Amino acid sequence: MTENKKGIEYLNNKIGSLKNMGEKASNIFKGESNDSLAMNKLYNESTEYFSNIIKDKLSNKDKIYKLADFGSFRGELLGNILDKLPDYKFSTTAVDINEDALKENLSAQEKIVATLDKIPLEDKSMDIIICRYALQWNNIEEQQKILKEIARITKGFAIIQYAGPDNNNPDKWREKIDDLLTGKEISKLRRAGYYFSSRNEIEGWMKENKINFERLMERKVKNVSDVFIKKYNLNDNESLKTKEILGDKNYIIQTTWLIIG
Ligand SMILES: C[S@@+](CC[C@H](N)C(=O)[O-])C[C@H]1O[C@@H](n2cnc3c(N)ncnc32)[C@H](O)[C@@H]1O
Repeated sequence: MTENKKGIEYLNNKIGSLKNMGEKASNIFKGESNDSLAMNKLYNESTEYFSNIIKDKLSNKDKIYKLADFGSFRGELLGNILDKLPDYKFSTTAVDINEDALKENLSAQEKIVATLDKIPLEDKSMDIIICRYALQWNNIEEQQKILKEIARITKGFAIIQYAGPDNNNPDKWREKIDDLLTGKEISKLRRAGYYFSSRNEIEGWMKENKINFERLMERKVKNVSDVFIKKYNLNDNESLKTKEILGDKNYIIQTTWLIIG
């Protein structure tokens, strides 16, 4: 296969994966699933957490702040944050490659269908950027570019939330997740073009690119299987298989960074 064909196949597979977020993805992103500690920590708590960071950093209630959500999907998190901050004014932009999801995104005034590694926005054009769980759907090179794009476009600050492997020995965790995401056992979970970077990898790239960042939070979230089970509405058999495949690596490390523009 020529390099060009390989590139096209990679992109088609990747876009296919990005459009397959799971039957219940929207409910989960909104924070409507609250019968599991993992879901609370990974999704439901983000609204309060992000809103508090934003509130602490904004002083002018008369100013219209430019707020962008990179990898916005249907704007579930963005909408929740806007509801939490009624005293502030925002003009909102959502960026995502998933055009269908963007059409249903009622939280953003401006919608841009684009890949996050090449965003058609001007340098320092956004006061605030939020980006939750988008990085890990991309390969290493794309993740590096996405981080550079966030830093380039941020005027004020960006909040990036991420979930991935242990920082030490990340390959052991990746082996299990990769087994699950081949889709051999559970076809709904097949994913392509992704990479779960470790915290040190991400921070290393930010340092290399002189991106001004601060790690705000890092914690281990047990039972990451709950996310797959609920998001993809897995049946009992598939749920059991998911837990079996993940085995002693049935957790994820959640990290939040602030990038300062
Ligand atoms: C797991 S969802 C998270 C949605 C939302 N940020 C949230 O946390 O509720 C990841 C979103 O990022 C988008 N995404 C990931 N990589 C992307 C890329 N390279 N270009 C554009 N969109 C991307 C996906 O299409 C998807 O809508």
